[in-house]
Amino acid sequence: MSAELKQPVSGLDVAHVRAQFPILSREVNGKPLVYLDSAASAQKPEAVIEAVADVWRHSYANVHRGLHTLANEATEAFEASRGKMARFLGADHADQIVFTRGATEAINLVADSFGATLGEGDEIILSQMEHHSNIVPWHFLRERKGVVLKWAPVTDDGALDMDAFNALVTERTKLVAITHMSNVMGTISPIETIVQKAHAVGAAVLVDGSQGAVHMPVDVKALGCDFYVVTGHKLYGPNGAGALYAAGDWLDRLRPYQGGGEMIAEVREDGVVYADVPHKFEAGTPVIAEVIGLGAALDWMCGLDRIALMEHERQLMDRFEAGLAEFDGATIYGRTQDKGAITSFSLEGAHPHDLAQLMDKYGVAVRAGHHCAHPLMQRFGVPGTLRASFAAYNTESDVDAALEALRKAKSFLI
Ligand SMILES: Cc1ncc(COP(=O)(O)O)c(C=O)c1O
Repeated sequence: MSAELKQPVSGLDVAHVRAQFPILSREVNGKPLVYLDSAASAQKPEAVIEAVADVWRHSYANVHRGLHTLANEATEAFEASRGKMARFLGADHADQIVFTRGATEAINLVADSFGATLGEGDEIILSQMEHHSNIVPWHFLRERKGVVLKWAPVTDDGALDMDAFNALVTERTKLVAITHMSNVMGTISPIETIVQKAHAVGAAVLVDGSQGAVHMPVDVKALGCDFYVVTGHKLYGPNGAGALYAAGDWLDRLRPYQGGGEMIAEVREDGVVYADVPHKFEAGTPVIAEVIGLGAALDWMCGLDRIALMEHERQLMDRFEAGLAEFDGATIYGRTQDKGAITSFSLEGAHPHDLAQLMDKYGVAVRAGHHCAHPLMQRFGVPGTLRASFAAYNTESDVDAALEALRKAKSFLI
């Protein structure tokens, strides 16, 4: 199996894209499904479903250790996915990619392995718009090691407050852990600027690309970050598979995260010799079909014109936000100019959960709640918001159906 990613076709044929997602032709509550919850998890194209099924049907075996044909085929396809991920992120080598269960595990890996190099009083800068996955592992480290967490605030329109960020960076800063794109507001962080500032004091930068890598082409070398994490199920791939990219020789310098099979070269009664990177960080049997399916998802994404895709998603979001402006008492959280295609909002006098449940009656799937971002909810003084997120397969009629469902839901409640 080749590790070459597909070449994109110019422009975006949304009808063609949509037709590749079997789930989108089903009904929900007697209505055509309108899926605007892709920021939580994206639906899967046939190419991914087929790739996973093909592994289960024809070439499934455990990877890396086998001496038989199936094991070799599975290993080759698994390692081809590593090459695809490296290319997708713009990394130099496949060896810079560690497969994980998702972004959460990738961040826990860095918190554990990089965290082992930190001591009491060392400082880590986070932002107020982080997902809990990029907060809780650092709290663990604070509890274990006495590191200090410092919080970069967001402005009223949902941008990262760069003056405040700059003021937080000191000689004690050892790491900045920051989202590429907020899963609540779509805000895009100025990663290159953050990296420059952090590197100037010798601090490393981890970028949570769980949303960013879905909505914009990523070049980790241009960003200059030390670590970049992604999660496969938001990239139109299977859940249970994600990845960590580590720049330079970070993986060589860090100690392994978990111990077990696959990550060793030799185990003796008196010690262990670790396997080479990246296998040193991949203890135990990995998710095999899912990683291969993730490779198929990256192929599929790279077959799209990513710039046309960004424009398409952006137009859907603009249409939705223009529609929201017609509602009395609507507030949109996150109003930055160049944000990615996510709209968080509330309607005065109606609870987000009630609105989401009523919209579901009309076949419209949106998310309501804190979106795993308690500090951001606290920042805006709200318990939760409604969130509509836009993907390659969404259309203008999805947007219109969602606005109509919202209108009806509102009329029940207010
Ligand atoms: C910005 C961000 N970071 C991290 C995660 C965690 O991803 P996963 O649960 O797949 O590990 C999510 C998922 O919603 C996210 O949106």
